[in-house]
Amino acid sequence: MSRTRIIVSASLLLAAFSVTAVSAGIAGKELLGKKIYDDLNLSINNNQACVSCHTGSVGWTGPDSLTNAHGAVMEGSIAGSFGDRKPPSSAYATQSPLFNVQMQGGALFVGGNFWDGRATGWKLGNPAADQAQGPFLNPKEQALPEAASVVSKVCSSDYSDLFKAVWGTTVCDSANIDKAYDLIGLSVAAYEGSSEVNQFSSKFDAHQRGRGGLNRQELLGKALFMGQGKCNLCHVASGRAPLFTDYTFDNLGIPKNPENPATVADPTFVDPGLGGFLRNLAANSDWRTLPFVTSVKNLTSDQLLQFAAVNDGKHKVPTLRNVDKRPDPAFVKAFGHNGYFKSLERIVHFYNTRDVLPVCAPAGQLFSDEYAEANNCWPSPENPNNINTQELGNLNLTAAEEAAIVAFMKTLTDGY
Ligand code: HEC
Ligand code: HEC
Repeated sequence: MSRTRIIVSASLLLAAFSVTAVSAGIAGKELLGKKIYDDLNLSINNNQACVSCHTGSVGWTGPDSLTNAHGAVMEGSIAGSFGDRKPPSSAYATQSPLFNVQMQGGALFVGGNFWDGRATGWKLGNPAADQAQGPFLNPKEQALPEAASVVSKVCSSDYSDLFKAVWGTTVCDSANIDKAYDLIGLSVAAYEGSSEVNQFSSKFDAHQRGRGGLNRQELLGKALFMGQGKCNLCHVASGRAPLFTDYTFDNLGIPKNPENPATVADPTFVDPGLGGFLRNLAANSDWRTLPFVTSVKNLTSDQLLQFAAVNDGKHKVPTLRNVDKRPDPAFVKAFGHNGYFKSLERIVHFYNTRDVLPVCAPAGQLFSDEYAEANNCWPSPENPNNINTQELGNLNLTAAEEAAIVAFMKTLTDGY
């Protein structure tokens, strides 16, 4: 669907003009959001905050190398509790549009936060703000019992004065709990949208601004990213400050991660991605009256069910900014919604050869990526439905060209 993708990227181009350069220090609402984002007390065992699973030094994802090397799902505040997905970057997420549908030939779903787009932004007018209300109360994450507990903890924290200074002295009154909880979401989103989080300070950005060149290999990688590698069709890299995503959804056919806790618990587990979210929308109608609901409300439950089937297994295109950011070269990062891949080299090899190498036998069995590499095969996909065969799978890239694409992605690390 490259025609539609170009329309989407044109709107991102416009958004890019409002981006300002790195500014030193944050204050007010953004600083308040940072305090909340970093506050370990906002969890059932006072041991987990947003920052625990989205840390700047590792590109705003999971900061535990050992976890990344295996299941890739971060443990919740309660020991032994796990979700089923790898944390995506919390940076550059605020720029995602509200979850919406574009009817052009078919239905193209765009935007929202989370791998499946279900933090729509329909409640607070901003996907990241809707998203931020989730983890505090998610039993597999910070696990607090209700919004009132989060508000009461913020109101008795050492930054409660800042909370009142930003949002008014009555914000902590017991009559205002729902409102206060919304303001907590908006504060966190303000921090996530701040210049401290969205730095646009990578080698690539310097290159875009005409300062500092990319070396020959990185330039080759950039050309391949934009051309033969087709990466740019989804991870949009054109424009002044591109975000390396068009916020659409695709099923790449990534294999199951055998060590993902959901798969360990049930080897038949299949992540439905966007399809699962659309089925949930079809099954209830409360969301239809939310203040910021988009074009999706024009779809009937029957249509949503129909579109769920053709979006089963699709996940949101993640930003590639900071995709290689890590505290030291030995630190392992995981890639893909289930954390199957452990290196950029391997995921690029997958894009290049998914449809060329044999399926690891016996098909349907679980294999680690280490096994796949050693045996020169690819395991069958986690979710066989709706796999994109147009834009990846057989790119005819040489080993040197794969390496160049990896080198280019390494120029996307902030703090250059
Ligand atoms: C236990 C680990 C954990 C904690 C704690 C946590 N997250 Fe996440 N975060 C995740 C996972 C896993 C996902 C993906 C979940 C999904 O797609 O279903 C995610 C997704 C996100 C996204 C979506 C990014 C995108 O591009 O779609 C944002 C933003 C985010 N988290 C911010 C936060 C904030 C803010 C907090 C604190 C209020 C927080 N997270 C707490 C693990 C965590
Ligand atoms: C058809 C759209 C599409 C194309 C083309 C595409 N990607 Fe992706 N990319 C995605 C989606 C969707 C995901 C997440 C898939 C999942 O987790 O199931 C992803 C994930 C990734 C990730 C993992 C990021 C993370 O944080 O986990 C990397 C790295 C990546 N892509 C690089 C590339 C490169 C390099 C190319 C070109 C060789 C490319 N992509 C081409 C859609 C695309």
